[in-house]
Amino acid sequence: MASKLVLVTGASSGIGEATAKRYAASGARVLLLARNAQRLDEVADAIRRAGGAATAYKVDLADAGTIAETSARIAREAGTPDILINNAGAGRWRPLAETSAEEALGMIEVPYLAAFNLTRAFLPAMLARRSGAIACITSPASYLIWPNAAAYIAARHALLGFTEALRADVKGTGIDVTLVVLGTVETPYWKHNPGSRERVPAGNPILAPVLSPEEAADAIFRGVEARKRRVVKPAILRALFLLNALSPRLVARQIRRSLPKQQPG
Ligand SMILES: NC(=O)c1ccc[n+]([C@@H]2O[C@H](COP(=O)([O-])OP(=O)(O)OC[C@H]3O[C@@H](n4cnc5c(N)ncnc54)[C@H](OP(=O)(O)O)[C@@H]3O)[C@@H](O)[C@H]2O)c1
Repeated sequence: MASKLVLVTGASSGIGEATAKRYAASGARVLLLARNAQRLDEVADAIRRAGGAATAYKVDLADAGTIAETSARIAREAGTPDILINNAGAGRWRPLAETSAEEALGMIEVPYLAAFNLTRAFLPAMLARRSGAIACITSPASYLIWPNAAAYIAARHALLGFTEALRADVKGTGIDVTLVVLGTVETPYWKHNPGSRERVPAGNPILAPVLSPEEAADAIFRGVEARKRRVVKPAILRALFLLNALSPRLVARQIRRSLPKQQPG
């Protein structure tokens, strides 16, 4: 990992912060992207104090023009990343009628379009040197359906489609594409996206295990290193995805039963 350049989006908090620290601890130079400059600087300082190398780039990934400017600046100042981790994301789980058009658009802008635009910015240079790894971080909502989160679930399906299609595009070019599907992770996400935690179908034992940000980061790190197509953590979710492919009605019924009582489903 020494001397590798690793770009992590959403590095000001939660999974992205832990992932950036995980890569830095292994010797990579990390580029930290998010909007909150103060938090980014704090993360970068913590990495440097621990002996690592980190540079912060304040950027609103919902803005395609800003992504183009920032990625050009990164290419000039640091070069083309060896590893691109598309992690930044947000989105509240709400019934359709309570989700505004702006909110639905925001969930498509980040993570899906942010991943699209950032990958698009660096892909030509990665293709030219015939190496690189791109990971997209998502949730079980890329595979499963539950009530009262339509805009969020649609956005995560978009990210799944993008990641799979990207892999098809770059097959045979030396670039690896990894989709990382994480169950519930204990991060500020739940504070940043109020109303979501209450709608987690937590009554289902398969959905119950909660990961720490460090466990999530380790899964991302190891999965990318192993050049995996898909990483699922906790692994038991794989069984649920398989069952869902075979019998979506059965899984939908189980998930409905797992919903907190106040949520009609
Ligand atoms: N927590 C979970 O249970 C869980 C499970 C599975 C998947 N995930 C996914 O993992 C990713 C990270 O989640 P997390 O739990 O670490 O959440 P988090 O603590 O809320 O962190 C989200 C990160 O995304 C960044 N971000 C959001 N909108 C942005 C924008 N417009 N421009 C630039 N950066 C933006 C935030 O930075 P700024 O606010 O500073 O811009 C922050 O660094 C998300 O895509 C999330 O859906 C989370």
